[in-house]
Amino acid sequence: MPSISKKGQHMPQSPIRKLVPYAEMAYKQGKTVYHLNIGQPDIKTPEIALDAVKVHSLEILAYTRSEGSDEYRTKIANYYSKHDIHLTKSDIIVTTGGSEALMFAFGSVMDTDDEVIIPEPFYANYNGFSTASGVNIVPVISKIEDNFALPPIEEFEKLITPKTKAILICNPGNPTGYLYSKEEIKKLAHIVKKHNLFLISDEVYREFAYDGVQHYSIMQEEDIAEHAIMIDSVSKRYSMCGARIGCIVSKNKDVISTALKFAQARLSPPTLAQIASEAALQTPQSYFDDVIEEYVARRNTLISELEKIEGVKVAKPKGAFYCIVELPVKNSDAFAQWLLESFDVDGETIMVAPAAGFYSTPGVGLNQIRIAYVLNQGSLIKAVSILKEALKVYKD
Ligand SMILES: Cc1ncc(COP(=O)(O)O)c(C=O)c1O
Repeated sequence: MPSISKKGQHMPQSPIRKLVPYAEMAYKQGKTVYHLNIGQPDIKTPEIALDAVKVHSLEILAYTRSEGSDEYRTKIANYYSKHDIHLTKSDIIVTTGGSEALMFAFGSVMDTDDEVIIPEPFYANYNGFSTASGVNIVPVISKIEDNFALPPIEEFEKLITPKTKAILICNPGNPTGYLYSKEEIKKLAHIVKKHNLFLISDEVYREFAYDGVQHYSIMQEEDIAEHAIMIDSVSKRYSMCGARIGCIVSKNKDVISTALKFAQARLSPPTLAQIASEAALQTPQSYFDDVIEEYVARRNTLISELEKIEGVKVAKPKGAFYCIVELPVKNSDAFAQWLLESFDVDGETIMVAPAAGFYSTPGVGLNQIRIAYVLNQGSLIKAVSILKEALKVYKD
């Protein structure tokens, strides 16, 4: 049989999806499973976006331009201007989700064996994107004790080598929920300028900033215009994960013209979904106010319930809709599997994401899980009570 590529063999499995067969087994046993494991919001997509694809005048569902339709890019630039980010449509390429924007960013600025420094824990698919691009991740550990704040900037500096091409951050963070402050972004801006690196910032959760704190984007740091690459998406903002629309944004013309070549190779982002995403830009602020209020209530409930469990430690998220929880177990992979295979409370159990897959340093995060608070408050209370009962009887 012909052999599979080394790259293919090294592609990591999603730590979130690998437990799916066990969840399916749990359903077959008639169990109800509370999904705390995935970032699929249960919030309704704005009607204005859904209506736009129900009623349209297209006769041919044609490709759009590789960089996305002019109308949509112009409107995205206008959306950013309301967030104090000043761009033109030529700084934006529409992509098939933030995922493709990340692939374009990796492909445009890094060669095989180049290095990207990423604070860990980080969004697990960064492992997949780096493997696919032949790029090595150099992790810098952020700690639960510090709420996963930016590690001291000297820690980054120590890791910079001639192979380092970029620093990648996620703001607010998946899986940590940490929201970087303006001061932290300025420290990063300073270091990328000093060492002539790119700063890639994944801002797909930008709207989800809590406690009255404003999200501060790397694109607001005008001093690093040539270094900054922002990744964005409609998936979470408008609860439109299935639209598969995102964008890569940079004022660096070489980055954009290079990313455009990648975009041309895949021809076009989805046409209908661009129509929906363009319409979604008219979503009133009241939609976001309600969504934020809901997530803050969920977060507060979740954290206070978790804090009641002995031996459990949790970092309070300031954004996005995830948190990392430290458990009194040795191996959360085995624990997560056991929850689905062998445990229930009156026919109900929970599915969590083991956190080790969000780290690239081996052996770190083994006693942690990630919880996504994408369920209503009642379900969250129930799910945490199941976790509490499970920890009483689980033996490592
Ligand atoms: C941090 C982060 N970046 C990027 C993505 C990719 O999202 P999409 O491709 O749906 O835009 C996700 C999805 O969960 C994410 O959590």
